[in-house]
Amino acid sequence: MKNRYAVILAAGQGTRMKSKLYKVLHPVCGKPMILHIVDQVKQLGIEDIVTVIGHGAEKVKETVGESVLYALQSEQLGTAHAVLQARDHLAHQDGVTIVLCGDTPLITKETIEKLINHHQQTNAKATVLTASTNEPAGYGRIVRNSDGNVERIVEEKDATEDEKRITEINTGTYCFDNKYLFDVLREVKNDNAQGEYYLPDVIEILKKKNEVIAAYATDDFDETIGVNDRLALSKAEASMKKRINEKHMKNGVTIIDPDNTYISAEVEIGQDTIIKPGSILSGSVKIGEDCLIGPQTEIVDSIIGDRTTIRQSVVCESKIGSGAAIGPFAHIRPQSTLGDNIKIGNFVEVKKSTIEDGAKASHLSYIGDAEIGKDVNIGCGTITVNYDGKNKHLTKVEEGAFIGCNTNLIAPVTVGKDAYVAAGSTITENVPAEALSIARSRQINKEEYVKRKQNNDEGKN
Ligand code: UD1
Ligand code: CA
Repeated sequence: MKNRYAVILAAGQGTRMKSKLYKVLHPVCGKPMILHIVDQVKQLGIEDIVTVIGHGAEKVKETVGESVLYALQSEQLGTAHAVLQARDHLAHQDGVTIVLCGDTPLITKETIEKLINHHQQTNAKATVLTASTNEPAGYGRIVRNSDGNVERIVEEKDATEDEKRITEINTGTYCFDNKYLFDVLREVKNDNAQGEYYLPDVIEILKKKNEVIAAYATDDFDETIGVNDRLALSKAEASMKKRINEKHMKNGVTIIDPDNTYISAEVEIGQDTIIKPGSILSGSVKIGEDCLIGPQTEIVDSIIGDRTTIRQSVVCESKIGSGAAIGPFAHIRPQSTLGDNIKIGNFVEVKKSTIEDGAKASHLSYIGDAEIGKDVNIGCGTITVNYDGKNKHLTKVEEGAFIGCNTNLIAPVTVGKDAYVAAGSTITENVPAEALSIARSRQINKEEYVKRKQNNDEGKN
């Protein structure tokens, strides 16, 4: 989009968050607040996006990356002063500049677009995005004159009791004629309750110069929520959660209990997949079609194929194929790659292992640092003994092998193709393909033991 620019303010520390993490980096549905905003703005096809950084500048830069420009505000003297720091990038440009706060993560490109259109239709030099709420405390209030036109914006701390009763608030998002903005910013003063250079004062200054000032009122207050503290953060999280869940439902995903389902911003889910209550899908998760996920399942940074069922389980940084059955109560730990039609049953833990198509570990096993071939059957209670106290070692079970129940596979060790391991074995040496390995002591039955014991006991009395 030609001649459109954006400035995102992200230099403040966010004292009210009481946090070691800089405010704009706090995640909402798993994604740092500022990234939500940057992504929406990027989708508008804006030419240059300037992010104003200060507190935690390096961390913010690292998170947002190289696709935006940066301006440093080394001292946080207020929002007008913050925008002024973008002058080297933007002051010479003709066009419109949108200014957004880095702490309004719910703002959408559609609303920004409407703001820009309103700005252009009214021929305004500055247009502020406003919203109405019954709980305006903390926000700047929109003061309108008797004709209903915007006169100025007053901050909560500078407001009279009457002004505090105004329910129309400044959302912190604006559209400016770029040239006017940078001229007027220098005229903003800091003679107010906080001793700061307020960006909203630009409105009053332009008004006094008889320039056209406009306001675009959105009817969706939730979208404009400013996150100053953890209470607002939880409200933003709830709103974003609802938005994300609704998007998936509209795309053909069944979510049985949306209030009780937590899906991160970047998750992808295929059609006809059903998500049952208590499930948490976080980070970069991709789930195919016709899957059944949950209840009470946590999946983090993982890829799941089609028609796979994962019940009451935890899956982390792993890949699972199609037609697989996981759980209930399985734990798939990082760097595991599980193939198609595999089964990982209850109380099975898999770590850094490859499990090829059709293999099964149905009950109570630990599979760590292992390569399990196609169609292998791992019997109940089997354990890969991968750790010698210092190093981790590899267990290989080749295609078609059958591992009997309660087997210890002392790594490094290989069980060959189609081989059998008898139940209760402790395997310390490689098992050749197609062999049967029995590694347990022989059973001894002592006949009439009880009778002999009784006789013995009576003799003692
Ligand atoms: C601001 C507005 C208020 C509006 C509200 C909407 C001002 C003076 N007030 O108040 O009218 O209702 O947003 O959410 O603008 N920042 C900087 N440098 C600074 C100061 C702030 O980059 O020197 C950044 C912050 O990191 C933040 C944003 O600007 O992302 C807004 O600052 P904040 O302190 O949160 O302003 P509010 O008090 O919420
Ligand atoms: Ca704020």
